[in-house]
Amino acid sequence: SMRQPIMAGNWKMNPATEADALNLARGFCAMLTELEDTCAMDAKEGCTEVVVFPPFPFISKVKDIVAKYGITVGAQQVYYENKGAFTGSVAASMVKSVGCEYVLCGHSERRSLFSDSDVNINLKVKKTLEFGMKPILCVGETQDEYDLGITQEVCAMQVSKDLRGVSKEDMRNVVIAYEPVWAIGTGLVCDAKAANDVHKYIRTILAKMYDEEVAQSTRIQYGGSVTPESVDGLMAMSDIDGCLVGGASLFADKFARIVNFKS
Ligand code: G3H
Repeated sequence: SMRQPIMAGNWKMNPATEADALNLARGFCAMLTELEDTCAMDAKEGCTEVVVFPPFPFISKVKDIVAKYGITVGAQQVYYENKGAFTGSVAASMVKSVGCEYVLCGHSERRSLFSDSDVNINLKVKKTLEFGMKPILCVGETQDEYDLGITQEVCAMQVSKDLRGVSKEDMRNVVIAYEPVWAIGTGLVCDAKAANDVHKYIRTILAKMYDEEVAQSTRIQYGGSVTPESVDGLMAMSDIDGCLVGGASLFADKFARIVNFKS
């Protein structure tokens, strides 16, 4: 498709130390240079964009390591205020100033463990865009919602609320990640065709909110237990433009294989 593939590694609250984080970054870059016909390191058209999301304290040094391979870094989260008395929070300006190009917004762990609401997520998406970074907006149904058969309703609600007030122009810088919560960290990867159907459905929502051009040009990643074994089948799907990888991104060899998916 016309959409550039985008592979992202969300390290979550891992690894434990700076030394381990830098080793992971170095190991991944070393694996990439060994692989043949990788185009992940190239910014040229048709190549795969690669982003890693380290914990805040490691972002700067990881960026120093990966930047020369054409890999960018992002923040796993930002607060929606510019500055002030918000102990423990990190502002968009801060992560921008250390080189972040992307910010994860609305990850299910933020929603469930840190009470991120659609209203807050919407503010964070807009703050990310205001500071010239690109949000990866994560949406997806829980196990209960899946069992109730309301996957489409949940995704439609999250996409429309979380993107409220985001202009058509700004949508060029928005990536959506469909992450069924029951597939995150469980080893239960969503069936590729079923995931693709949700991605197609999300495009119909974007078409209603914006237009067909936005619906077709917005990149939509799949996330949830992606591995070297499942990536090719997922990436063969018409409407899956990349993956948001958790657990497997903590292994240099696995993540290198994933960003070099075959399709
Ligand atoms: O952000 C990444 C997703 O939550 C997927 O995590 O690959 O460990 O299932 P996982």
